[in-house]
Amino acid sequence: MSTAFYITTPIYYVNDVPHIGHAYTTVAADVLARYKRMSGYTVFFLTGTDEHGKKVEKAAQEAGESSLQFADRVMLRFRELWKKLNISHDDFIRTSEKRHQEAVQKFFKALADRGDIYLGEYEDWYCVPCESFWTETQLLDGKCPNADCRRPVEKLREESYFFRMSNYQKQLLRHLEENPGFVQPASRYNEIVSFVREGLRDLSISRTSFSWGIPVPGNPKHVIYVWFDALLNYISAIDYFGGGDAFQSFWPADVHIIGKDIVRFHAVYWPTFLMSAGLPVPRQVFAHGWWTIEGKKMSKTLGNVIDPYALSDQYGVDQVRYFLMREVPFGLDGDFSREAMVSRINSDLANDLGNLFSRAITMVHKYFQGEAPRAGSSEALDTLLKDKQLQVIKAVDAAMGELAFSRALASIWELVSLLNKYIDETAPWAMAKDPAQRERLATVMVHILEALRLLSVLLWPVMPASCEKMWLATGGEGELKSTRLSAIPEWMPVKAGTGIQKIPPLFPRIESVRTS
Ligand code: ME8
Repeated sequence: MSTAFYITTPIYYVNDVPHIGHAYTTVAADVLARYKRMSGYTVFFLTGTDEHGKKVEKAAQEAGESSLQFADRVMLRFRELWKKLNISHDDFIRTSEKRHQEAVQKFFKALADRGDIYLGEYEDWYCVPCESFWTETQLLDGKCPNADCRRPVEKLREESYFFRMSNYQKQLLRHLEENPGFVQPASRYNEIVSFVREGLRDLSISRTSFSWGIPVPGNPKHVIYVWFDALLNYISAIDYFGGGDAFQSFWPADVHIIGKDIVRFHAVYWPTFLMSAGLPVPRQVFAHGWWTIEGKKMSKTLGNVIDPYALSDQYGVDQVRYFLMREVPFGLDGDFSREAMVSRINSDLANDLGNLFSRAITMVHKYFQGEAPRAGSSEALDTLLKDKQLQVIKAVDAAMGELAFSRALASIWELVSLLNKYIDETAPWAMAKDPAQRERLATVMVHILEALRLLSVLLWPVMPASCEKMWLATGGEGELKSTRLSAIPEWMPVKAGTGIQKIPPLFPRIESVRTS
């Protein structure tokens, strides 16, 4: 029996080209999607682009293009990056697509038919970069109160449609209280609970001050507020109004992975829209932390925006994926620097794992002409290694269940270290000199190969391309991509006689840190 698992990233604004922050969220979602597929789930992994709104309209004008031309061009940058980073999304939704626009209009109408949308007038402060309205009292020193923004706001007064969000305050609060796991990590959950406790105002969900958006059904002078439009991607992509199987199988989403900047939209606005439509809310909203660059906020003005495409060309795709997942516990803020990255690559990947792997393969070639030998009976050290393997499989599963990617990798590295220690203690090079120890040498080599093969399986969600190579080189059959954990016995020594391939170093050492 297979169980459905629906995972999403935010849909990214096309006013800006993709950077390391976008790559972070998408890689994390990809790691989870791959792990879940490998665990036997039928996964639907969605990403895409958020193309409407004043911000995009403005950027397009500045570029001298139509909004759609502009969106078409920048959207491709995202698609190309996901290809480069080996992202395994099942769909890529653009809010400018017909399937999305129709769904948004239908949803708007459905909420209006229920009496949850009314026409009123809005006068408040608007932050263009955040596409958010703020009341006078919410402003900080007259500027946008969003901690990651703090930019000037402008006064806007316009006729607007409102969503009766206030009607859903009690229901949302009850949901939050009954489901502490709904928003993760706990610090974000607490923030949202206090925000909702303070009361919810009705939400302005249309604009008349620009035109790049989805028209309000029956009143095209208004376009639908970009967040109302954007959040709906999570159900328009699985064809909510089409009545097909996708919505039945995948809704509610298992997890919306987002950055901490957009928790309120996902954990307050979105569930109240869904409640109004009589739909179940997502099971979890997981908000990860914020990356700074060498201690500073990433910004065009500072010129420190990190392009993940160029970074992957320089250091390798799997290296970048590994660094992002290992360096910072998911949910906390982190700091990016090339020094930190190179040091991770050299110590964890080149030294600990890469050397281990090439040493092992070289020994199989030297002592057994590149063919897996037949193992004899196990000794205490071997049992210790096997026990560790079982322990790590369980620890990884528990960590992945909590999106604790860094902890999962730390557990895997316990096995890497133990395996290095096992090689030092068994000293195959010494045994190789003594014909009487031939069988013991074979047993040790089989244990090493088996542990490496398990490592390739466990690390595959994070470093898919390198792990496919490791898996094949250590005698694995087929592709890891289509291998299920349940089909891999806990102990599956490689068949005697299987060819063990020599391959170029998986993670070459990086000698110097170039800054560009
Ligand atoms: O907010 N550190 O799109 P967006 C970590 N279109 N993550 C970062 C980051 C950083 N410095 N900078 C960006 C939007 N991110 C809306 C979303 S969803 C229905 C609509 C990541 O292009 C992080 O995931 O501004 C953040 O939430 C997202 O990019 C914001 O992307």
